[in-house]
Amino acid sequence: MSNASVSRIPALELNNIHKTFGDVEVLKGISLKAYDGDVISILGSSGSGKSTFLRCINLLENPTEGEIIFKGEQLALTANKSPDLQASSMAQLTRMRQQIGFVFQSFNLWPHMTILDNVVEGPANVLKRPKQEAREYAEFLLNKVGIADKKHMYPSQLSGGQQQRVAIARTLAMDPQVILFDEPTSALDPELVGEVLGVMRSLAEEGRTMLIVTHEMNFAKEVSSEVVFLHQGLIEEQGTSKKVFEAPESERFKAFLSSTF
Ligand SMILES: Nc1ncnc2c1ncn2[C@@H]1O[C@H](COP(=O)(O)OP(=O)(O)OP(=O)(O)O)[C@@H](O)[C@H]1O
Ligand SMILES: [Mg+2]
Repeated sequence: MSNASVSRIPALELNNIHKTFGDVEVLKGISLKAYDGDVISILGSSGSGKSTFLRCINLLENPTEGEIIFKGEQLALTANKSPDLQASSMAQLTRMRQQIGFVFQSFNLWPHMTILDNVVEGPANVLKRPKQEAREYAEFLLNKVGIADKKHMYPSQLSGGQQQRVAIARTLAMDPQVILFDEPTSALDPELVGEVLGVMRSLAEEGRTMLIVTHEMNFAKEVSSEVVFLHQGLIEEQGTSKKVFEAPESERFKAFLSSTF
C-alpha cells in the first residue's frame, strides 16, 4: 500500500454507533469505514438492526451514541433530555444529507409528479440548478437506468422494478458521494429483481461508494468489496467478499449462509 492510500480519508466513517428504542438496545456499538469506491454489503437476519444502522447514518434515526464522519467532517451531535443525540446544526445535517443518497425498499417517488419531474425536483429546487440543465441531466440518468421512454408517465403506471430504477436515478441526480440502499429489491416480484440489481451492479462498476442492505446473497458476493454481517446489533463477521463467503469464521454467519443460499 502506498503512503497516499494509507493516509486517505474515508468517504464515510461510523464510530461506535448505538441505538436504543425504549429499553431495548438495538445497535450496540457499530463501527465501519467506507472509502471511495467501496461497495459494502450489510447482511443479517430480520431484526438484527440493519435498517436502523443505515438510518442512523443520515439521522433518519437519531443514534443514542456514536460519531458520524463524512469526508473527514464530523457531524456535530448534541445530547439533550431524550436518550438520542440530535444534530447540533440543521444546516450541516442538510448539507450532509444532500451528499448521502438513500434508496428505500418502497421507492418513495412523488405520486403526483411525472417520472421526469421526480428526477428534476431535487437538483432544480434543492440544489438550485438551472431547470434546463437539471432536465437534461435527469434525461441522461433515466436513459442510464433504462426508463427514458417512460419519462412522461406517473409512478403508478410503472412496475415496481421500473419505479425503483427511477428512484435510483432520482438519487443519482443529487450527485451523492455515498449511496445507502435498504433492501432495494425486497418489495419486488422475483422477475423484476434482476433489472434493479443490474443497475446497481453498473453503479458499483463505475466506482460509486455504496452501503447496501440486502438479502441477495449472490449479488452481495459478486459486487461487494466488503461484507458485514450484523447479529443482535453487533458486527459478527466482516471482511472481503472472498474471505467472508469462502472462509467464514462465525458459526452464526455460517448458519445464516446455509439458510439463505
Ligand atoms: N421505531 C422503532 N421503535 C421501536 N423499535 C424499533 C423501531 N425500529 C426498529 N425497531 C426494532 O429494532 C430492531 C431492529 O430493527 P431493524 O428494522 O433495524 O432490523 P432489520 O435488520 O432491518 O430487519 P429486516 O431484515 O426485517 O428489515 C427490531 O427488533 C425492531 O423491532
Ligand atoms: Mg430492515
